[in-house]
Amino acid sequence: MRITIVGTGYVGLVTGAAFAELGHDVLCVDNDEAKIARLRRLEMPIYEEGLEEIVVGNVKAGRLKFSTSIKEGTEFAEVIFIAVGTPPGFGGEANMSYVERVGREVAENMSSYRLLVEKSTVIVNTNEHLRRTVNKYLKEDVPFDIASNPEFLREGTAVYDAFHPDRIVVGVETPRAASLLRDIYAPLLKRHKTEYLEMDIASAELTKHASNSFLAMKISFINAVSRICELTGADITKVAHGMGLDKRIGPHFLKAGVGYGGSCFPKDVDAFVRMGDEKGYSLGILKEVQRINLSQREHLMRKLQQELWVVEDKTIAVLGLAFKPGTDDIREAPSIYFVSHLLERKARLRLWDPKARDKFDKVIPGQAYFDSPIKCAEGADAALILTEWPEIAAINLAELKRAMKCPIVIDGRNVFEPAAMKQAGFIYHSIGRQPVHPDRPGRISS
Ligand code: UGA
Repeated sequence: MRITIVGTGYVGLVTGAAFAELGHDVLCVDNDEAKIARLRRLEMPIYEEGLEEIVVGNVKAGRLKFSTSIKEGTEFAEVIFIAVGTPPGFGGEANMSYVERVGREVAENMSSYRLLVEKSTVIVNTNEHLRRTVNKYLKEDVPFDIASNPEFLREGTAVYDAFHPDRIVVGVETPRAASLLRDIYAPLLKRHKTEYLEMDIASAELTKHASNSFLAMKISFINAVSRICELTGADITKVAHGMGLDKRIGPHFLKAGVGYGGSCFPKDVDAFVRMGDEKGYSLGILKEVQRINLSQREHLMRKLQQELWVVEDKTIAVLGLAFKPGTDDIREAPSIYFVSHLLERKARLRLWDPKARDKFDKVIPGQAYFDSPIKCAEGADAALILTEWPEIAAINLAELKRAMKCPIVIDGRNVFEPAAMKQAGFIYHSIGRQPVHPDRPGRISS
């Protein structure tokens, strides 16, 4: 089948390449000319494991093409997925101007039936605004449908997720729209057995915000418990393990840390809260989720500050800048908060990240980067771990200690075992576990 995808960000590009890999003819459209030029030269605009392989393979096979023209996209296919960004706009609510523009341009260019599918994360009832927009700008009286097909892929594992979804959620109102989407997903359902859910459009839209908010709530819940662990001598990793074995709770998203970041959770929880306020139901539970999330950063900063006493002129190695491992994305990453605050307090910073360096340099330019965690830690008064890259867990602790001026490690991701850090002679602070100090008996038992 022919498919147009408008927006070639993480979601659009991965979805487009995955549809092509499943045998469809896909045209990916974006108004960023430089990005489309790079993609035509087979250069990836983002780092995502396995993406380059399927993009290159499908471009060469003639199933994947790129364009900057929505007009061309509208003429190319009957089904048009909208995967443009919905960044926070004025006052924080999701900015729907890109979605609106796609609706308008598709309407202005269509001369026969089209199905517009919302793939971007949108506020519930967006389909009604989109329908009104299309009706407003249609040049002639042609039929169209709106559908919702929210995306659940995670950055870092997006390509794997595209072929192994836990479920496919489709919001449709007409048999024609339902049948087109079933045809699109048929090859995927042959490869991977999964639930294919058809529902009304509002429910599909809401499923996405409710899922992301629930996951964010799980993280803030475990982070709140981690604070109680610190105050009572308990160990959050043991508590989370004990909780997660209950099938009703499940083991995932129970890793305590410096808080969630990324382009989705902070923005989506915020949009969901605002939507609730607007509709007349306060999602107070999620306001608390947001508060806990931000307080984790401040809490970790306090630990660093307490160990250093004076931050000014201290050399701090920041290990990890991406909001999570496996991606070069730094949107809403805790690293931005830490680096900007530490610079304000006149610390000397040394940074390391295997993927996110270029993107970070655009946000906070002029920092010193190093090629390995050990080189980064050389001469440091403290090391601060913000992303659990596997290279950090693989560090030789004796080597790390030799490299640093003072063996202080503040770990926002619980990468190391406190007992091993104590034995290696570090002062070590982590999340939801007791600090250890080589000269002071820690409260850990092993
Ligand atoms: C998230 C959802 O997991 C996807 O299902 C969804 O499609 C996507 O948002 C989206 O809306 O587009 P993503 O933002 O890529 O995906 O990242 P996650 O793997 O969910 O991690 C989000 C944040 O939570 C990261 O900062 C991570 O470090 C943090 N996290 C995650 C924890 O602190 N603890 C955990 O146990 C799990």
